[in-house]
Amino acid sequence: MEPTSRKFTAAIDQGTTSTRFFIFDERGEPVAKHQEEFDQVYPHAGWVEHEPSVLVKSVENCIEIATSNFIASGHNVKDICALGITNQRETSLVWDIRSGEVLHNAIVWADSRTAHIVRQLKLEGTADKIFLKTGLPLSTYPSAVKVKWILEHSKAARDVYEAGYLAFGTVDTWLLYNLAEGYSGERLHVTDVTNASRTLLFDINTLEYDPFLTKFFGLDKLLLPKVASSSNSRAYGVLSKGPLKGLRITGCLGDQSAAMVGQKAFEQGMAKNTYGTGCFMLYNTGNQPVISKNGLLTTVAFQLENRPPVYALEGSIAVAGSAVKFLRDNLGIIREANEVGELAMSVQDSGGVVFVTAFAGLFAPYWVDDAQGTIFGITNYTKKEHICRATIEATCFQTKAIIDAMEKDSGIAIKNLAVDGGMSNSEECMQLQADIIGIDVDRPAMRETTALGAAIAAGFGVRIWSSFDDLDGVNSRDHRKFSARTTLTQRTRRFRKWERAVAMSKGWLT
Ligand code: G3P
Repeated sequence: MEPTSRKFTAAIDQGTTSTRFFIFDERGEPVAKHQEEFDQVYPHAGWVEHEPSVLVKSVENCIEIATSNFIASGHNVKDICALGITNQRETSLVWDIRSGEVLHNAIVWADSRTAHIVRQLKLEGTADKIFLKTGLPLSTYPSAVKVKWILEHSKAARDVYEAGYLAFGTVDTWLLYNLAEGYSGERLHVTDVTNASRTLLFDINTLEYDPFLTKFFGLDKLLLPKVASSSNSRAYGVLSKGPLKGLRITGCLGDQSAAMVGQKAFEQGMAKNTYGTGCFMLYNTGNQPVISKNGLLTTVAFQLENRPPVYALEGSIAVAGSAVKFLRDNLGIIREANEVGELAMSVQDSGGVVFVTAFAGLFAPYWVDDAQGTIFGITNYTKKEHICRATIEATCFQTKAIIDAMEKDSGIAIKNLAVDGGMSNSEECMQLQADIIGIDVDRPAMRETTALGAAIAAGFGVRIWSSFDDLDGVNSRDHRKFSARTTLTQRTRRFRKWERAVAMSKGWLT
C-alpha cells in the first residue's frame, strides 16, 4: 500500500494491563501498532504490583514489532518525527540513582495496601490543606503513600533513601530513565506536570514540589524527577536503543491527560470518559484549578510547551475493564472480554442484581478505602447474563455519580459524553451508559485516543502542529452517537438502588 503521508508521530502507551506502541500519520490514523499484555503480580488481596523490568521489556518488544510492521508497509523510519510517552499514572517505582538497581516492584495505582497508613495520616488533620495544594484526597491512590509504605517495609530501599540516593518515578520517568538519554548523552530523571500532579507531593497551583508535603510524608530525602511541560522540545531527550534509536521524545503525559488531548477536549467545559482498567472522566476547567466540593479530584490536564497549564476536574473509577477481566479470569463466565456487552444486553435488566465492583475500595466520588466488592440481589433466577449486566452497570452508575458531581461543582449541565477505551468498543455497553446517564454518548471511530494524545503532544514539540486549529482534520471522522432509551423515572429508580448498594458495601475491612 502507498504511504499516505511523510510525517509520522509515534506513541508508547504503557497502561495497567498492557503496553502498546503506535505510529500515526498526520491525520491521526494508526499506520502501525503492536500491543502486549503483561503479568500482574498479586502478592495479597488488594495488592497489585508490576515488575519494573517487565514494563521496560514490553515497551521494547512493542517498539520492535510495530516498527517492523511499519517498514514492511513500505514506510521509512526516518519519516517518524517524534515520540510521545503516555502511561498509567500514580504507579510508583524506586531505584538507586547510582546504579539503576530497582529496590521494590512497582506498586500499582489500584493497590490498597496503604489503607492503614492513610487512616493514620488523616488523624493529623491536614487533609484539607493537602487537598487544596494537590487537588487529591488523602487516599491509597496517589504515589506518596506507596513510597512511604516501601520505606517502612524494605530495608534496602530505606538504606539507599537515608544515604540520599533513592530515586522515585512514575512509569513515564522509569521508561525515560531506561530507554532514553538527554541530548548530551546524560541519563534522564524527568517527568511531566500531569504525572507529577498525581504524586501528592506536587502543588498544582505553583507547579512545584512542595516541601510541606515531602516532609509530611517523610520523603524529604527522596530524589524527585525534574518536572517539564507535557509537550517539550528538550526535556525528554531521545531514544537510546532499539530500531528507533535517536528518535526525539517531545511528548510525555499521563494516560488520562493524553486521552483528553486525543479527544481534542481543549476548551473549557469539554469532558471525556476513558474506559480502561479503571474509568476516568476529565472535565476541562481552563487555566485555573477548580477545587471540588463533591468528591472529584483536581489535576493538571496538560501543558503544551511555553503555554499555561490546563486543569481538569477528574472523576476516577478504580474498577472498570478489570471487572470484565475478573469475570473472564476469576469466575470464567465469559471466554473473551468482548462477549460481556452482548450477554449483558441479552437480558431485559440485571434481574435485581447490583454489583458494587469495589475490589480495592471505591474512588470518586465516594472515596471509601474500606468498601469491598459486593454482589447484591442474587436469587435462583440469576443467570450469568445478569451478572455481566450488573458488572457493566457498575461502571455506568459510577460514571453517573461523577457526572452529577461535575455538574454540581461546575454549575453547568454536561450535554455530551465523549468516550474511548476498551469498553467503548462495545455498542451494547455504550447504549447502557446512555440509558443510565440520560446524556448522549459520543464515540469516535478511532478510539486509540490515549496513544493519539501522546503523539499529538509530541507533534506539538516538533511543530508538526502549532495550534489546535491545525488538528481540525485529526481524529474527526465517523463519530457515533448513543442516546438514552429510558425515562427519567426509570433512571432515578435504578440509580437509587445503586446508591443503596454502595452504602451497604462499606466497612467490610473492619
Ligand atoms: O490513574 C490510573 C490510570 O492512569 C490508569 O489508567 O487506562 O490503565 O486504566 P488505565
